[in-house]
Amino acid sequence: MSNESTTKTITVAGLLCFVCSIFVSIVVVNLRPQQETNAELDMKKNILASAGVIEAGAGAEKINEEFDKIDTVIVDIETGEKVEEIDVEAYDQVVASKTPQSAVVIPANLDVGGLSTRSKYAKVYLQKDDAGELNTVILKHWGKGLWSTMYGFIALEPDANTIKGFAYYSHGETPGLGGEVDNPGWKNQWIGKKIYDDEGNVDLKVAKGSADGSDYQVDGLSGATITANGVTSSVKYWFGEHGYAKILENIRNGGLQ
Ligand SMILES: Cc1cc2nc3c(=O)[nH]c(=O)nc-3n(C[C@H](O)[C@H](O)[C@H](O)COP(=O)(O)O)c2cc1C
Repeated sequence: MSNESTTKTITVAGLLCFVCSIFVSIVVVNLRPQQETNAELDMKKNILASAGVIEAGAGAEKINEEFDKIDTVIVDIETGEKVEEIDVEAYDQVVASKTPQSAVVIPANLDVGGLSTRSKYAKVYLQKDDAGELNTVILKHWGKGLWSTMYGFIALEPDANTIKGFAYYSHGETPGLGGEVDNPGWKNQWIGKKIYDDEGNVDLKVAKGSADGSDYQVDGLSGATITANGVTSSVKYWFGEHGYAKILENIRNGGLQ
């Protein structure tokens, strides 16, 4: 067939596309397990980083070593009691919050974060010291910023009240404005703050402007009050009566350990 033939051009182009598509499919299928491993490792890193257990540049070996010291339990948010029948590894709290069979509707008067639904069960990470004593409680929380839903972890001291670490692992806020939630200096302000006041109310908030120096405020985010208010609402909801309050009460009483 002549090189000038239209049929030959189309046949060669078609064959090339076919060969390339097979090649891309093989690469995608073969890389999937690696991608899943990396995603899992990344989530472990986020959990440990929120607790201040590892540095930003920690390698896979260190991450896995430290994560092995964490007991992960599934807990009924309403009762604060451990649930045994759920596969801990497979359970994704965010997915469960959006799946009708595993989600709970948040009553409008309690939905300060505007989430509409939450998962029935929480995934609670309990980090122990070498003697097996509880060191850190780590919980996921999320809420709406200006442009995005912001997902993060809060790490607490064994008193289940004092903050040990605070970090978002995913959000779409504007760099330099709402994106300042990632600023290490701002995140450090959370350490040592308390969620609950003496009456057991969730009092912790992001101030408008400078914090008042109490245990219950961190500085506002300049030019990003909407994001800052989203952070406050997220903390208020997730640590309130419809959120993790029962779980933390149980931990304070020595449960789940
Ligand atoms: C391009 C652009 C991006 C913005 N990104 C954010 C943001 O990520 N978070 C936020 O709270 N406000 C953001 N704002 C500002 C808000 O519209 C609003 O003015 C601000 O939250 C009010 O906060 P302030 O009272 O501290 O100025 C953005 C504004 C513009 C024009």
